Amino acid sequence: MPSIDTNKPCDFTIFGVLGDLSRRKLIPSLYQLDRVALLHEDTRIIGVARHQLSQEDFVAKMRDSLETFVNDSLEPDVVERLLNRLHYVLINLDVPEEYSRLQEVIDQEQRVLVNYFSVAPFLFDDICKGLDYAAIVTPETRVVLEKPIGRDLETSQEINDTVARVFTEDQVYRIDHYLGKETVMNLLALRFANSIFTTNWDHNTIDHVQITVAEEVGIEGRWGYFDKSGQTRDMVQNHLMQILTLVAMEPPVNMHGDSIRNEKLKVLKALRPITIDNVDDKTVRGQYKAGFIKGKPVPGYLEEEDGNPSSATESFVAIRVDIDNWRWADVPFYLRTGKRLTTKRSEVVIYFKRLPHNIFKDSYKHLPQNKLVIRLQPDEGVEIVMMNKVPGIGKGIKLQKTLLDLSFSEAFSDVRIADAYERLILETMHGNQSLFIRRDEVERSWKWIDSIQDAWASSNEPPRSYPAGTWGPVASVALLARDGREWEE
Ligand code: BG6
Repeated sequence: MPSIDTNKPCDFTIFGVLGDLSRRKLIPSLYQLDRVALLHEDTRIIGVARHQLSQEDFVAKMRDSLETFVNDSLEPDVVERLLNRLHYVLINLDVPEEYSRLQEVIDQEQRVLVNYFSVAPFLFDDICKGLDYAAIVTPETRVVLEKPIGRDLETSQEINDTVARVFTEDQVYRIDHYLGKETVMNLLALRFANSIFTTNWDHNTIDHVQITVAEEVGIEGRWGYFDKSGQTRDMVQNHLMQILTLVAMEPPVNMHGDSIRNEKLKVLKALRPITIDNVDDKTVRGQYKAGFIKGKPVPGYLEEEDGNPSSATESFVAIRVDIDNWRWADVPFYLRTGKRLTTKRSEVVIYFKRLPHNIFKDSYKHLPQNKLVIRLQPDEGVEIVMMNKVPGIGKGIKLQKTLLDLSFSEAFSDVRIADAYERLILETMHGNQSLFIRRDEVERSWKWIDSIQDAWASSNEPPRSYPAGTWGPVASVALLARDGREWEE
């Protein structure tokens, strides 16, 4: 594994520098890193695209990205410092000879070379070949791959094979931006830095777990991509599976990339397959129809701009996941995610088991379960729902459900919460792979998802509709009700 070296300057090359992701996320994140002095003074940002553009025009476009997409007010000296780091290189990605232009700009001797592929996966092959042809690949060269890594196991293997022809696995950084989120990382701290959770984190004390990633947005002009993908491939295969593995994994021996990734992989291997025999009991697919979001009317999925009115793609999915290992025997994990739901909210809720005996029946007939709610976004924080005695004398013991609530914005009020991409970009420069997904993880999770997709395809059931602005189809409520449970709402 390349050594973690924070002192070396970096040539950070963005392929597809004029694209949406680069303009919205990558360039603004580099600005934030520069602002807090986390970029080496000699680090350079090299933008690659196929448009004829002068250096001045390129810089002007990047300035515009900063002005449009950086939320805080810009610091003029940081803007100038960042813009001075920029270089533009025109390359038609499928012409290997043109990569010599990049070779002339970068400094292979002195620097770490990070190549960020912010382009569609079908171009990865051309870029890898071009970098190889121009002899840009050294042990200090890294590649960063944006999702989607395929649309199933087979296509993800093709992408991984393509990249592996030129780069070894320890040079490959597969992005899942959820792993860069502060609160997702905090799952590790919560679990492994607090003895109350390390000893209460299995089938003995936990009844079930719910993971919700609810979105308010719809398709946002991305019909072409989304309709071929659906919410399961777009969100579950990556973001929800990553959260699930972090919640369910065994303690890693340390924080090294492979220690964590080995444990996550074990969870993926223990997932009980969902097949045609159990898909109807374990999953619910939904598609939104017209409705209201925060009081404003919004169109249904089939009426979205450029939409295909007969699409059967799901914009919502709920799944009961069973993990067949010692720790999680008989503890279901319920996942749900959807577009155009009531509100944007991502959280993990751990429901602890009911007490075996209630000595307070006279005043509180059914003691509720304790819950640990980990709010991933927005309003990041952690809360514990617990019972307390209401203060007072004379009428025996009266109990009340109360909240122990830690809001990050209050507890860490003077700390700015960094965007996920800031952290992830920095870690690629430092050579730390722990927040990136290893090939076997990606492929294992596709294998599990493929089985669900195949079962849906054979069952031929269309997704159930739900009005935009609700929590999904009624069948999603029934999924938990069958087990005597209900969603956290
Ligand atoms: C992306 C998906 O990976 O994550 C989008 O492609 C989704 O469809 C987005 O909206 C959600 O990210 P976040 O950070 O807003 O929760």
